[in-house]
Amino acid sequence: MNRVPDAADHERLLQEARKAARNAAARYSKFHVGAALLTETGEIVAGCNVENASYGLTMCAERAAIFAAVARFGPDVRVRSILVVNRDDAPCSPCGACRQVIYEFGPEATVIFKASSGWTSQAITDLLPYGFRLT
Ligand code: THU
Repeated sequence: MNRVPDAADHERLLQEARKAARNAAARYSKFHVGAALLTETGEIVAGCNVENASYGLTMCAERAAIFAAVARFGPDVRVRSILVVNRDDAPCSPCGACRQVIYEFGPEATVIFKASSGWTSQAITDLLPYGFRLT
């Protein structure tokens, strides 16, 4: 399913994600990523990637945004949509780990990103079929 994003939401999320990307700690990859999510209650929370000299400890922008949302609103926070962007405006869709985390906090979330064909908006369940649930 390919959902058309609401233009106003898209614009707000894009602005916040771009702002967050400017704070990325990406000294190793030089790939500065920002993500902004909209909660079910209409709040926007952003995050950026944070890299580490021990590369495997790197945190992606999408998960940083979700964890910040949990810190602000608690474990029941629900993600309605999440947008990801990078400073280079290169095509970039969320990695597999981030898809699983998006699914946990937004099983009906819309994910907005730039594909090689341009901006797209996808249901998380299309990006992550059979997402893991511990029940
Ligand atoms: N990265 C993200 O933050 N989100 C993505 O969707 C893809 C990858 C980060 C991780 C790492 O800091 C850099 O981009 C290069 O992989």
